[in-house]
Amino acid sequence: MKQIILTGDRPTGRLHVGHYVGSLKERVELQNSGRYDEIYIMIADAQALTDNAEHPEKVRQNIIQVALDYLACGLDPDKSTIFIQSMIPQLTELTFYYMNLVTVSRVQRNPTVKAEIQMRNFEASIPVGFFCYPISQAADITAFRATAVPVGEDQMPMLEQCREIVHKFNSIYGETLTEPEIVLPKNQACLRLPGIDGKAKMSKSLGNCIYLSEEPADIKKKVMSMFTDPNHLRVEDPGKVEGNPVFIYLDAFSRPEHFAEFLPEYSCLDELKDHYRRGGLGDVKVKKFLNNVMQAELEPIRNRRKMWEGRLSDVYDLLKAGSEAAEKTAAATLRDVRHAMQIDYFDRDDWMKL
Ligand code: TRP
Repeated sequence: MKQIILTGDRPTGRLHVGHYVGSLKERVELQNSGRYDEIYIMIADAQALTDNAEHPEKVRQNIIQVALDYLACGLDPDKSTIFIQSMIPQLTELTFYYMNLVTVSRVQRNPTVKAEIQMRNFEASIPVGFFCYPISQAADITAFRATAVPVGEDQMPMLEQCREIVHKFNSIYGETLTEPEIVLPKNQACLRLPGIDGKAKMSKSLGNCIYLSEEPADIKKKVMSMFTDPNHLRVEDPGKVEGNPVFIYLDAFSRPEHFAEFLPEYSCLDELKDHYRRGGLGDVKVKKFLNNVMQAELEPIRNRRKMWEGRLSDVYDLLKAGSEAAEKTAAATLRDVRHAMQIDYFDRDDWMKL
C-alpha cells in the first residue's frame, strides 16, 4: 500500500514553537525519511473560516504567513505538495456525504470540539459549519487516502472520528476509503509545550507564544521573562523541574551538543535538573542556557523564512501548483466515492433501467 501523509494547519496567525516541536519538526523528518510516497500539507483556510466568518482578510493574509513558516521549517515543495484547502472543491462535496454518517451527539462528544466551543463562548449559538469541522477534517484526510497524519496531540479526537467515518462508509458502501494513523512526536515534552507564562497551551490570544519568525532580541526577552518554579526564590533553594516551563522547553529543544557548546559544566540535561532540584542553581543561568538553545534552533528557520520572503512570487506559484496537483488527487478519490455510493449516474449503464 502507498504510504501517504496529509496534515495541515489553520491560517489564523503565524506559527510558533509549540507548532514546531508539536508537529512541524516531525513532518520535516518524515518528509526527509524517504518512507512516504506522497506528502500533502494543507493550509486549512476553509476550516479557519468556520470560526472566522467575519474575518476573511485575516485568514487570507495568514495563508502566506503559514506557507512561509512551512518553508522556513524545511518543508520542501519538491518533496511535499503544499496547497490551500478551499481550492479543492471536492473536499466540501465529500464533507456533505460524510455528514450523513455522523450523529449530532457524536460530534458533541468530541473533546476538542467541546473545549473549543467553551473557549469561543459558542455555547448558546454554535455556527453549523464550525460544528461540522471534524467531519470536514475527515474529508481532508480521506480525500488524499492518507495513511499517516502527523499532528499535535489535541487532534487525536479528530483522527478517532475520522476512523469511525471510514469504517461506517466502508461498511455501508464497500471498501473504498483508507484508514489513517495519527503520528505524534515521541518526546513527551513536545506533545504540549506550555506558554511562556506557564499556561497549559501556547496560544496567540493569550499572548504567550514564541513565534518561528521572532527576532533574536525578542526571543531573548521572552525566554528571560519565562515563568519558572514560583517557590524557587533564592538561588540556594531547591527547585522543581516537573511542570517548570523552562525545563519543559529544555526537554523539548536541548540536545547534548548544546551543553558542550553553551554550558560545558554539565554533560546533559539530567545533570542540570539534578542541580536545580538540590538547590544552588539560579533561574537566570538556566534561562540564559535555554536562550542559547532556542537561538541556535530558530536561527536557521528565521534565515530560511527571510530568504522565502524575498521570493513571494515563487511561494505564490508553488501554492498554485500544489493546489492544482492536490485537486487531481481529490478528484480521483471522489470518483471512487461516487461510484461506491452509486451516485455516478451518468457513468453507469444500469441507471435508466426500471
Ligand atoms: N484542525 C487542524 C488545526 O487545528 C487543521 C486541519 C484541518 C488538519 N484539516 C486537517 C490537520 C486534516 C490534519 C489533517 O490546525
